[in-house]
Amino acid sequence: MPVITICNHKGGTGKTTTVMNLAAAMGLGGKRVLVVDLDPQCFLTQIMGVGEPEPAMSSLALMTHDANLRTLPVVKVSGFDLLPATQYMTRAQKKLTGPMDSFWIKEALAVGHDYDIVMLDTAAALSVYTMNALVASDYAVVPVTPEYQPVVGAGQTWQTCQLVREKLNPSLAEPLFLLTQVDGRKRDHAAYSQYIRTTYAGRVLDSVVRTCTSLADTTHDGRTVFDHDVVSRGARDYANAADELSRHFFPGHQTESVEESPNGKPEVEPYEAAHSGSAGSAGTGGGEAVLHSWIPLDHC
Ligand SMILES: Nc1ncnc2c1ncn2[C@@H]1O[C@H](COP(=O)(O)OP(=O)(O)OP(=O)(O)O)[C@@H](O)[C@H]1O
Ligand SMILES: [Mg+2]
Repeated sequence: MPVITICNHKGGTGKTTTVMNLAAAMGLGGKRVLVVDLDPQCFLTQIMGVGEPEPAMSSLALMTHDANLRTLPVVKVSGFDLLPATQYMTRAQKKLTGPMDSFWIKEALAVGHDYDIVMLDTAAALSVYTMNALVASDYAVVPVTPEYQPVVGAGQTWQTCQLVREKLNPSLAEPLFLLTQVDGRKRDHAAYSQYIRTTYAGRVLDSVVRTCTSLADTTHDGRTVFDHDVVSRGARDYANAADELSRHFFPGHQTESVEESPNGKPEVEPYEAAHSGSAGSAGTGGGEAVLHSWIPLDHC
């Protein structure tokens, strides 16, 4: 039952967008997914249409001795369960300064839960909540927009993960990088994408998430991209990223295959081929799109 932290010390790189849409994709794929919002700014909680919870009903409740994910009330949202954040976390972290205060979530997860995968959304700041997330995790996924500051943030995040691996959590795998908000028309995006692929060779997902208005259009209505625009390239990109990550997280995971036509050939072309010139692929190893049975084929 893998535990995944989504982190990048630079803000605005698509962490929250990645958490909600990866969680939704994996939920649609049949996994029982728990998402924990560990950002005191509570953006994920708000986007999913969840009101400010009592601290005892929020992710802050994990930072206590008797935390139990089987009894904490989670909110059922689009394809996954959410343990929401509270803005009170900002004040509460002033008291979480002891040497053992980075181990609360690890302990809470060790009590037991009923999920196939747990995903932890973190703030850009390296707070006690982010440390808790990394100490409790098997994997870290670093969304990185191929621009200067997010790339620097990704480097800092890599170093933080190395430190956590050495000192606090040897089970944490080296981070996996997911290129996000990629605009194929921008030359610097191609250059920084290449830089990331060279610097972190073997740890960068083939799948990339391109800029997509359907992903930026998220309001506070609790809907993921799969609810409000399932045929968008944002939906497709996150479906592919979820599939690729599942191969890391769940050994033996089968890629969802396209239903075959009577002549043995796929009914539809791969997305990149069908939309060449219009989709704006990064041109840096975006990989062939996977077609998911829950994305309507007649729209591909
Ligand atoms: N692929 C995308 N295409 C277009 N807009 C995107 C994409 N991904 C994210 N966005 C938009 O970019 C902004 C930042 O995204 P998001 O909130 O997911 O980043 P974050 O890393 O969680 O930020 P923070 O560090 O503040 O928590 C949001 O307005 C979001 O809607
Ligand atoms: Mg965020």
